[in-house]
Amino acid sequence: MSNVIVIGTQWGDEGKGKIVDLLCDKAEVIVRFQGGHNAGHTLVIGSKEFKLSLLPSGIIRDDKVSVIGNGVIVDPIHLVKELKDIQLKHVNITSNKLILSESCFLILPIHKYIDNLRESVNSDKKIGTTGRGIGPAYEDKVGRRGLKISDFSNKENFKEKIKKIYDFHNIWIKFYEGVEHPFETDLEQITNALRELQTYVGNTWVYLNHCVKEDKNILFEGAQGTFLDVDFGTYPFVTSSNTISGNATVGTGVGPSHSFYSLGITKAYTTRVGNGPFPTEEKGQLGELLALKGKEIGTVTGRKRRCGWLDVVLLKQAIKISGISGLALTKLDILDDFDHIKLCVGYKIDNKEIDYFPANEQEQKKIKPIYKIFSGWDTKTFGLTNYEKLPNKAKLFLKEIENLVECKIDIISTGPDRDHTIIIKKFF
Ligand code: GDP
Ligand code: IMO
Ligand code: MG
Repeated sequence: MSNVIVIGTQWGDEGKGKIVDLLCDKAEVIVRFQGGHNAGHTLVIGSKEFKLSLLPSGIIRDDKVSVIGNGVIVDPIHLVKELKDIQLKHVNITSNKLILSESCFLILPIHKYIDNLRESVNSDKKIGTTGRGIGPAYEDKVGRRGLKISDFSNKENFKEKIKKIYDFHNIWIKFYEGVEHPFETDLEQITNALRELQTYVGNTWVYLNHCVKEDKNILFEGAQGTFLDVDFGTYPFVTSSNTISGNATVGTGVGPSHSFYSLGITKAYTTRVGNGPFPTEEKGQLGELLALKGKEIGTVTGRKRRCGWLDVVLLKQAIKISGISGLALTKLDILDDFDHIKLCVGYKIDNKEIDYFPANEQEQKKIKPIYKIFSGWDTKTFGLTNYEKLPNKAKLFLKEIENLVECKIDIISTGPDRDHTIIIKKFF
């Protein structure tokens, strides 16, 4: 199998970065296909920790090519900073190692400003965004007034296009704020950043199709998670892109007739940052304990992640929607000290059982999870690398998940480090 898509099956932060880094051993090309610097992927290699937002997780390895595909939305000012930060950690960056699609749409400072302004105006209906301008920038893309990296090749035209975007938004910004968002200083910042990035800009769909023809191992790195997908997620509490595996083709230009293995990343429990429904959320002490043990603090915004139990109803749905071929279950070690572990196996709404997440917001509010309770294993699994060494009670928990979702667990992660992993199925 030369194409593997890594997808979050929950609300993000499942540990995708760690698993992508692990699979990079054998992958030759790593490509991001959606989202932007709202993502926060943490990689731990021995005593070193890397936090990546926009750069693909392959970037820390010298012999891999990292690609930012056309479906990604790029804040050029942020990208320049992220590149500088990672270079300070002694990661080599060259134009042979990083290719940025000329077709990526840009996040401009005004998008970030609008994102934050909307959130402050909508205080009772906040989405709880990362405040990075993702939504407004994707809106401009589908509104057909967006700006692409390739537009930068004609400076006069480029200035005119940005001005039009600023004029469009400044009408209502002036209405709310009394003043317009300034244009000239932003233009200078954007221009300087794009000038620095030019060395990495290329035609990524041509490059990737060439790699496919050469049968190279390509890893498609998803960001966010299935239930933040703009079509299949808990709308409107979602991000503004498609986060499911189908978008790996649209966001890169590699057609769907090639064979793909979709690896779904699932935490052994569930977390969510930002607002929106979360049927298995533990709002009391248990939730606090999960957050404390799991160090559940958002990488991008430093917000506390909401915590609860693994939800098989949602996981089954994610598996179907993304055509998941196998699962990587992460953070098993975080459950080590719990007396009891809950697994949500169904929902009840008005005393009727259902086995899917309803689309209607009013119905969602009435969900009562049905739990199967497991007794804890009371043994450390942290750092284990051999399946046989897992306590029997942990094996029972994992087997039950596999049976209920009808999908195999290919990888079990038992700690943040690349080496804290039980590999059941080999990739590439
Ligand atoms: P991503 O956005 O899906 O890449 O996930 P994040 O990096 O935002 O959050 C996952 C966090 O859990 C990171 O701090 C990882 O280092 C850490 N992590 C990943 N897998 C494991 C694991 O199996 N056990 C523990 N204890 N930590 C893990
Ligand atoms: P990774 O790749 C967790 C959430 C935000 C908010 C919603 C919309 O690290 O898993 P946005 O800024 O995208 O418009 O915010 O989506 N969100 C994430 N939550 N992990 C992420 O990425 C996220 N990216 C966005 O908290 O609820
Ligand atoms: Mg994250």
